Amino acid sequence: MNHLIAPSLLSADFANLAKDIDMVNKSEADWFHLDIMDGVFVPNISFGFPVIEKIRKYTEKPLDVHLMIIQPERYVERFVKAGAYLVSVHYEASIHLHRTIYAIKDAGAKAGIVLNPHTPVHLLENIIKDVDLVMIMSVNPGYGGQKFIEETYTKIVWLKNLIQQSGSEALIEIDGGVDLNNVASLIKSGADVLVAGNTVFSSTDPLKTIHLLKTAGTDDHKDQEILG
Ligand code: DX5
Ligand code: ZN
Repeated sequence: MNHLIAPSLLSADFANLAKDIDMVNKSEADWFHLDIMDGVFVPNISFGFPVIEKIRKYTEKPLDVHLMIIQPERYVERFVKAGAYLVSVHYEASIHLHRTIYAIKDAGAKAGIVLNPHTPVHLLENIIKDVDLVMIMSVNPGYGGQKFIEETYTKIVWLKNLIQQSGSEALIEIDGGVDLNNVASLIKSGADVLVAGNTVFSSTDPLKTIHLLKTAGTDDHKDQEILG
């Protein structure tokens, strides 16, 4: 399948969210990536239900909700009710992960698992067939604009093997430090969905940047576009 692009609103202008949402609506991006942080699982606090419920009224694309909170099972149904298309919880944050995944699905959303950079892919062996997506963190979660961790490429290849061997249909999403220099290699390694925060929202031409991310590694892609 062609890869998907999910701009992360964490790097948007919170005083002008409607403007940035409108830009993503008009762009070639596929999903909105929403980062929910509780100040406990990660050393940062972002936003919660009131903001998502409002955002949902303006967004014209699915909401990809990334929960960086402890015991996410307490809230998954509320995130689905608030408008999430996909809810992803961290492997490290949910003790009864199988139950949490089915709580998300029963609530009517797609369900994903997120792996921190230190968490090995093989830990998903017995749950890979139950999930719609696995997100590999390519930075330590908590902040936008961090440096991409190169070990991610190895994890993508291992995850792809696990998915293919098990007959799972899970997508592979990459979150953190995705930019115009690494996007093509990530796709080539097997990534299906690329989150991009800083790369999109700090760009002088976010629509063009999304276009370049979207066409990277495809036949539409022109090297000179990336280079200059
Ligand atoms: C980090 C978040 C990311 C973040 C990505 O904890 O999960 O989604 O917004 O930002 P960039 O693309 O700037 O690394
Ligand atoms: Zn995220």
